[in-house]
Amino acid sequence: MKGIVLAGGTGSRLWPSTKVISKQLLPVYDKPMIYYPLTTLMLAGVREILVITTPQDQNSFADLLGDGSQFGVSIQYAVQPKPEGLAQAFIIAEDFVGDSSCLMILGDNIFHGSGLGHQLRHTLPNSGAHIFTYVVADPSQYGVLSLNIDGDPISIIEKPKNSISRLAVTGLYFFDNRVAQIAKQVVPSPRGELEITSILDVYLKKKELTITQLTRGTAWLDTGNPKFLHDAATYVRVIEERTGMKIACPEEIAWRNEWLTDLELANRSKTLGNNEYSNYLKDLIGSVQNF
Ligand code: DAU
Repeated sequence: MKGIVLAGGTGSRLWPSTKVISKQLLPVYDKPMIYYPLTTLMLAGVREILVITTPQDQNSFADLLGDGSQFGVSIQYAVQPKPEGLAQAFIIAEDFVGDSSCLMILGDNIFHGSGLGHQLRHTLPNSGAHIFTYVVADPSQYGVLSLNIDGDPISIIEKPKNSISRLAVTGLYFFDNRVAQIAKQVVPSPRGELEITSILDVYLKKKELTITQLTRGTAWLDTGNPKFLHDAATYVRVIEERTGMKIACPEEIAWRNEWLTDLELANRSKTLGNNEYSNYLKDLIGSVQNF
């Protein structure tokens, strides 16, 4: 399975902070935002990843993430010239995905919870589409899923004014390799975007859309406006200080997955200088706890 991180867009709800820097490069407490979605893909076992950015931000992402070898993965880059909708990612990524299936995550989505990696590795189907839903207090800002009484999906509506459900569709999507062809048939919505909900609707109508409802024990955090971004940073700080363990540390996940050796982790720690993050990596080596 190939992975896609969609990290374009204008970030206009965070202007002026994102006027000259991509939203997905802003820090969420102690690391860049893109580390969070990137590590969600890594937890799912994905090692071949395409990062889609705006043309002007591509070099900054490449400077930060390189070829991915420091995280035991392979990272390639592509640009989305204009933010014409989430569904466009699959057209841009068509050659990269090839005959594989793909797991796409939005570059501003943060997931955290016990057993998430296990869940991702064991619940994805071999074909069709799969989404992850989450109960939210205010669904009006999201794609919203409605279910029938048997729990089967019956509709997905993008940002409904009057919602009949509180099940938000999160920014993590699995698709089989028909997705690029389906994306090419999608027509722009009234707001001028190729909506991912239009693709999901095609799979839903074919009865090939399955869902996992993330439990209350999982956090799905939004970073789309200044308040949500601050809340996400606070969440990360509180959990990390309490447990002494980092959320979304790609080097740690790679090392625990045995994609990096002790020596490679030690070398990576040295390249990061002397700070709290590099000391954390150094201290992992030889730690006896099996968290
Ligand atoms: O976060 C989950 C929600 O994400 C879903 O519930 C919605 O169904 C889905 O449409 C999306 O809604 P948003 O309002 O959050 O989408 P937004 O336009 O903010 O874009 C989400 C991220 O994708 C953001 O980091 C920017 C990036 N993006 C967006 C567009 C439209 C791109 O890279 N390219 C694009 O063309």
